[in-house]
Amino acid sequence: MAAERETDQKKKRLHEDVERVLIDEASLHARLSEMGAAITAEYTDKDLLLVAVLKGSVLFLADLMRRIALPHEIDFMATSSYGAGVASSGVVRILKDLNKPIAGRHVLIVEDIIDSGNTLAYLMGLLEARNPASLEIVTLLDKPDRREVDIDVAWTGFSIPNEFVVGYGLDYNERYRNLPYIGILKPSVYAELDPENPTE
Ligand code: IMP
Ligand code: MG
Repeated sequence: MAAERETDQKKKRLHEDVERVLIDEASLHARLSEMGAAITAEYTDKDLLLVAVLKGSVLFLADLMRRIALPHEIDFMATSSYGAGVASSGVVRILKDLNKPIAGRHVLIVEDIIDSGNTLAYLMGLLEARNPASLEIVTLLDKPDRREVDIDVAWTGFSIPNEFVVGYGLDYNERYRNLPYIGILKPSVYAELDPENPTE
């Protein structure tokens, strides 16, 4: 059937939907090695807990933690600030909290991207109230032009322009997380996947 063939073709498309690669795989991994070394130096002899914010930061976490040459633990939180589209709602919900208390521990939040800053401002307040020994942020990407609240970020992988990006964990409508690079989608993709919110 024609409709089934069309669905199959959409499933196969991945790299074809990308208009442009913003950060290639080699650049990502080179920067991650630098960040891993810096974090290793900072947390030597400290009880380090990496808190990754699901789901976007999972690829970043997996590659970063292999470059932190110290014993450490990981835990996860899940928040929701975006709906299905590309515009921030400014509303943060906790979908999953940490499994264990963090009092007295050195907590490093691992985030995929800081956009408005609303998600991290909320998370920082929430975690600070639990009395960790320290609380810092490492983010792979930062869009400084979009900031609505001030956030103190200890390590940033790359500052990027105000464009919606996908890949290396980042999604559009839950897709494209498996791209090994950071890319920008073709405008036609938005119109097709989000018919309520068409872009040119
Ligand atoms: P903030 O609260 O506005 O800083 O939003 C942060 C979250 O929005 C990130 O953790 C991402 O999940 C999502 N986000 C922001 N910008 C992008 C983007 O360009 N691509 C994919 N997700 C994004
Ligand atoms: Mg995120």
